Amino acid sequence: MEPLVVAMLLLLLARGHSALGLGGRNMWLIKEKVLQAREQRARDHVRGGQRWSSAALGSAQHLEPQEEFFPQPLDHFNRQNNATYKQRYWVNTKLWEPQGGPVFLYIGGEGALTTYSVLAGEHVDLARKYRALLVAVEHRYYGASINPDGLNHRNLHFLSSQQALADLAMMHAFISHRYNLSKLNKWICFGGSYPGSLSAWFRLKFPHLVHAAVASSAPVRAQLDFTAYNKVVSRSLSNPVVGGSPECRATVGAAFGAVDEMLARGESAALERDFRSCRPLDGSGDYGQLAGNLADVVMGIVQYNHELGIDATIAHLCRLMANTRLGAPYRRLVALNANYMERMSLNCTDNSYQRALEELRSEVVKPYGVGERQWYYQTCAEFGYYQTCEDEGCPLSRWLTLRSEVDVCAQVFGISASSVQGAVDFTNDYYGADRPKASRIIFVNGDIDPWHALSVLRNQSRSELALVINGTAHCANMNPPETGDPLSLQHARQIIEEQIGDWLSRRPLYPL
Ligand SMILES: *[C@@H]1O[C@H](CO)[C@@H](O)[C@H](O)[C@H]1NC(C)=O
Ligand SMILES: *[C@@H]1O[C@H](CO)[C@@H](O)[C@H](O)[C@H]1NC(C)=O
Ligand SMILES: *[C@@H]1O[C@H](CO)[C@@H](O)[C@H](O)[C@H]1NC(C)=O
Ligand SMILES: *[C@@H]1O[C@H](CO)[C@@H](O)[C@H](O)[C@H]1NC(C)=O
Ligand SMILES: *[C@@H]1O[C@H](CO)[C@@H](O)[C@H](O)[C@H]1NC(C)=O
Repeated sequence: MEPLVVAMLLLLLARGHSALGLGGRNMWLIKEKVLQAREQRARDHVRGGQRWSSAALGSAQHLEPQEEFFPQPLDHFNRQNNATYKQRYWVNTKLWEPQGGPVFLYIGGEGALTTYSVLAGEHVDLARKYRALLVAVEHRYYGASINPDGLNHRNLHFLSSQQALADLAMMHAFISHRYNLSKLNKWICFGGSYPGSLSAWFRLKFPHLVHAAVASSAPVRAQLDFTAYNKVVSRSLSNPVVGGSPECRATVGAAFGAVDEMLARGESAALERDFRSCRPLDGSGDYGQLAGNLADVVMGIVQYNHELGIDATIAHLCRLMANTRLGAPYRRLVALNANYMERMSLNCTDNSYQRALEELRSEVVKPYGVGERQWYYQTCAEFGYYQTCEDEGCPLSRWLTLRSEVDVCAQVFGISASSVQGAVDFTNDYYGADRPKASRIIFVNGDIDPWHALSVLRNQSRSELALVINGTAHCANMNPPETGDPLSLQHARQIIEEQIGDWLSRRPLYPL
């Protein structure tokens, strides 16, 4: 990821968002790490699978699905504009039964996809059961699916969820033609986080194309000031199911209170030293970045509890924060940050606000990993999602303010702060927020994950379902099963599998 980019986010005093997207430099680093960990797990899973199936598959090497590119109109809603870009996608036909086997569409967003998008994960396990054709489509403006003008400001407004859904409709037509699909080949789409929302919305807006959808950790309700994010962080730090406790939450709150007092007193030399700042802190922008980076460590560990692959979990965080031998709560936060930096192989933290802004402004295309500039743009133009900490009871730094986040929209993209609320309202009116009137969608969330607060948490009808998994974090159900998965997660995967079978009116088949 681009740490740099990350930095940008931090921006102003505040910091960012995450999950989906924004965030301080550290949140971007964490997101990149999660992507790597998931890919590593997928790779191990594929290799493990080949051990017993290699006889049937022959040499796996040349069978690996290749990346392909499909020309898409840059603007689906103005046919006078003949500009196009090439959208990257992958197809895996190996599990498919062409006579009526379904199509499982894996939707990208926020970053690049890889060939593992059609080789491992919950949707691939389900494809094996239901003999599906697997198609993975990268989101426009992310990864290698960039228009010829790159990320320059002029064309960035063609980056939107509406254009992305129209891309998927075109892809549906193209794949249907290429594989001679009929009405018998039912489409089911999958996605997690922002692509989870796209999965739900593709079914909602294009019911003639998509039979059903699984939407994992999908924040379908846009919100400018996402205060609930840190309310869930607070609850998760207190939750004994994942090794939290009320004391842990209180100690984290006390430590950030001490940081805020030092910032208020201008004790920058001590903060630079204690938290290993790459450069001296220069002004309130940098103060905000430092606060945001520290908050990101806690927010990232909560959001990706057990997903990070570096043994940074809520349980570990709380053990460290309970260790009185380290000194006052502030000292324990210093140790937590040092521990995090060591695990992430960071020798210093970049707290420069100006550098963060520069990174967000950079039009350099990065064909892998998370797309920070693009994602921040989408928050300004469609979703908000700013994870603030201004209310009583937030255990992190009060330097995480809405104003600092929204200022970035103006400073980087020329989007006025006052227009962001209108964009958020439009998104909710357009898609129905957390009460979408659709059918055959299953919304899956983990109750530890702060993003669940913007998703659908109650069954809306007999065919618009919500699953809330006790004790899991962001998108946990999308990974291949592992030993040690909590029972609640195993149970959720089974409900999803049965629900899909039901929607396809098929019993699970044995693997090929
Ligand atoms: C696109 O339209 C422009 C004029 O608007 C024209 O000059 C150009 O040849 C067109 N390109 C293609 C590929 O049709
Ligand atoms: C496409 O499918 C139809 C009906 O299943 C069949 O009649 C036709 O031969 C197929 N065409 C190709 C090119 O496979
Ligand atoms: C961090 O490591 C890089 C090289 O890996 C080095 O150039 C830089 O000076 C180091 N910074 C600090 C603060 O130790
Ligand atoms: C929704 O209904 C399903 C059964 O149809 C049930 O398993 C699930 O727990 C319900 N979800 C919620 C949030 O009540
Ligand atoms: C989650 O599971 C734990 C046991 O592991 C149980 O004590 C707790 O009540 C459950 N929480 C919810 C919300 O069901």
